[in-house]
Amino acid sequence: MNENLLKFITCGSVDDGKSTLIGHLLYDAKLLFTDQEKALVLDSKIGSREGKIDYSLLLDGLMAEREQGITIDVAYRYFSTENRSFIVADTPGHEEYTRNMAVGASFASLAVILVDASQDVQIQTKRHARICALMGIRHFVFAVNKMDTVCYEQARFTKIQRHIKVLMAEFDYDTLCMIPVSATEGDNVVRQSKNMRWYNGLPLLAYLEKIDVTDEEGEKGFTMPVQRVCRPDQNFRGFQGQISSGEIAVGEEITVLPSKEKAVVTKILQGDKSVAKSKKGHAVTIQLDTEVDISRGCVLQKDAEVEVGSLFEASLLWMDENNLVEGGSFLLKLGMQLIPAVIMRIKYKIDVNTGAEVYAETIYKNELAVCEISTGSKVVFDCFAKNRELGSFILIDRVSNQTAAGGVVRQPLARDNNLRWHEMDVTKGMREKCLQQKAITVWMTGLSGAGKSTLANELEKTLISLGKHTMLLDGDNVRMGLNKDLGFKEKDRVENIRRVAEVAKLMNDAGLIVIASFISPYQLDRRMARDIVGGGFVEVYVSTPLEECEKRDVKGLYQKAREGKISNFTGISSAYEKPERAEIVIDTSKHDISDCINMIMKVLEAYL
Ligand code: ADX
Repeated sequence: MNENLLKFITCGSVDDGKSTLIGHLLYDAKLLFTDQEKALVLDSKIGSREGKIDYSLLLDGLMAEREQGITIDVAYRYFSTENRSFIVADTPGHEEYTRNMAVGASFASLAVILVDASQDVQIQTKRHARICALMGIRHFVFAVNKMDTVCYEQARFTKIQRHIKVLMAEFDYDTLCMIPVSATEGDNVVRQSKNMRWYNGLPLLAYLEKIDVTDEEGEKGFTMPVQRVCRPDQNFRGFQGQISSGEIAVGEEITVLPSKEKAVVTKILQGDKSVAKSKKGHAVTIQLDTEVDISRGCVLQKDAEVEVGSLFEASLLWMDENNLVEGGSFLLKLGMQLIPAVIMRIKYKIDVNTGAEVYAETIYKNELAVCEISTGSKVVFDCFAKNRELGSFILIDRVSNQTAAGGVVRQPLARDNNLRWHEMDVTKGMREKCLQQKAITVWMTGLSGAGKSTLANELEKTLISLGKHTMLLDGDNVRMGLNKDLGFKEKDRVENIRRVAEVAKLMNDAGLIVIASFISPYQLDRRMARDIVGGGFVEVYVSTPLEECEKRDVKGLYQKAREGKISNFTGISSAYEKPERAEIVIDTSKHDISDCINMIMKVLEAYL
């Protein structure tokens, strides 16, 4: 990784001369490929500036090149001088500005915001600064452009400086710099301007080469989200990921989240090179002294005070054509974690122009909102101000799989400050002992008509005959009582499974063996159920094919679904995601019932 890389974003409207500024930066600093330079001169002959080079053509060309194959309208340009390497995100200033700028800003440490010297600070300048601040940028450069059109007048610049200071007073930032430039003429872009001798600061490029953005204030301790568990052979088990904050050395003790288990780092690999320590930004493989249970999505941390919880307040940038309303259910991707999440409450939306907090029940595309988000299971996160990577997330639409929103965590919320878990004297282990059994949950998933209920019924009889204490939870039955308020929309099914998993957990705590028989069509919700129940969870995928289930059609529901009389019917008009790692897979069209039960019992022996 290049330690000296500066990632920045440029913000400005079409007429502010943004493209010209970047074009000039690249051209004067001799950062173009030769053929691009030639093309530019040629194009400019027929361009608008009477034979002078029109630098904006350059960037527009690059942008067209970059746009191919990317959906978000942000052009990234890599260039480098003797002193530093840069990546600049250029975002078109027109339509969809909020979204493009937010995406660009989320990757940058510094923003160059253009102000037209003949126009002064505008509403859009505030909008740009607000979005950048919201996305966590703490270093700002205001390029007061078109100074040539105001006769390079110092008084004009001083007045604009004052207005920028007033504007920036609203935000938290680390550095602020204002430079009078003329992008078309090249004043103070790469070279010091001879037309503004009154300005004794650095030209833009020199400032960008020099500015130190490494001091991320507030960031404390080491964190690394685990991206991959690497196990090439019996003797090696390494955890790979990119260090998102702080540093770590061999011999130091880390804590694994969410489990809070501790272990000592025995080896750090950068590529295939063993190093004594490593720090933020590096991709590493870490080895530990003890066997701890770590999978993708876990976070290794040291002195970082990272949160582990399931409720937080966040700022969201809504990007979906479908509006956001309370109760909306999504997949939350944060770090390496992918977890079901629900928007519990829309607190307000933010007017991007004024910053005003406005009451809202619905959030439309490109709007910014502050919301409370609840996750299906515990998530490892942090406030964005403390940790950019563990503090930012996206929400993915569960049906279209498209990114519906990008967001940053503002603060963790306590579910209820007045609640406290009481450790009671009689424990699950003691209850299990009384019943002389191990409490487990056998979770059956599969299409309607696959044979789940039949198998569950037989399995329970078999267990009872062995003297076990059991309880059967079945989809249709539970939906007639506890879950009678729920339907079959995705949101309802997620809640159905969550409640059932909580009930299964309670019954396991009571010492009972639970058999749960639910379509449970979504992979993530089954994983949530596994997380909620904890140890002793055995997933049985009843894999009878759709054609067979439809042929059986015991309840006549497939026919109704085909006729359009039932909506969201699993397998017909609603998805079923096949389990990838079920402990048991059984196709009831291939085996008779007693064979199926034998197969299940054989696996269960290890658990009982
Ligand atoms: S789940 O998807 O939320 O897990 P669950 O197992 O509780 O479903 O309930 C499924 C039962 O509800 C089916 O066996 C069927 O009898 C009935 N049912 C009614 N409407 C639907 C539907 N649209 N999709 C699936 N099952 C339905």
